[in-house]
Amino acid sequence: MTMTSPIASPLTENDRWLLSFYRSSEIDGAVFFGKVAETVRSGRLGADVAQHFADEAKHAAIWTRCLLDLDVEPLRIRRSYQSQYFDAVGAPANLMEILAITQVFEKRVIGQYRRQLHHAATHPRVRAALDEIMDDERWHLQYVRRALGAMRERHGAERVATTLGRYARADEEVYARTLAEYGDRMAFLEDDLPTGSRNRS
Ligand SMILES: [Fe+2]
Ligand SMILES: [Fe+2]
Repeated sequence: MTMTSPIASPLTENDRWLLSFYRSSEIDGAVFFGKVAETVRSGRLGADVAQHFADEAKHAAIWTRCLLDLDVEPLRIRRSYQSQYFDAVGAPANLMEILAITQVFEKRVIGQYRRQLHHAATHPRVRAALDEIMDDERWHLQYVRRALGAMRERHGAERVATTLGRYARADEEVYARTLAEYGDRMAFLEDDLPTGSRNRS
């Protein structure tokens, strides 16, 4: 990987939208996990969930700082990515479902952030923010996978697998819709974009 982009290159309106979208999604994640932390209080999982809450709030601050450093105000984002999950499959009803939807979401986040991190045209300041966030996101996936594994005893492996499958399908649906609507704002995903959504601007 080479770092050829000049530091001074300006942020495009699409970049501004995308960073605002990330910021809003991290805020939603923090608010959601703040609520989970109120109910899951004990043991290692209680500590992990509280850490998760703190991490997502920190990520929202990282994106806000990144936008400030690049001299642009965050845009108001109407609907976060996560809220579209709940519209598609309903809000999770128990801790197992919360962990399942979180595993699916964190995988999506890591995939998206990783692709942007490794794209040659990504602004160096944005790359620095992604670098700062990635380790936390990887840890989120790890602890959620572990906790969900432990839930198989109580809920049954089949039910956990079915729940994960249901959320994975919802994620595919929401992601496809997001790409169709906003894909042209994410040049680093150009190989994935449906034809017809590329040349809006
Ligand atoms: Fe995050
Ligand atoms: Fe996360």
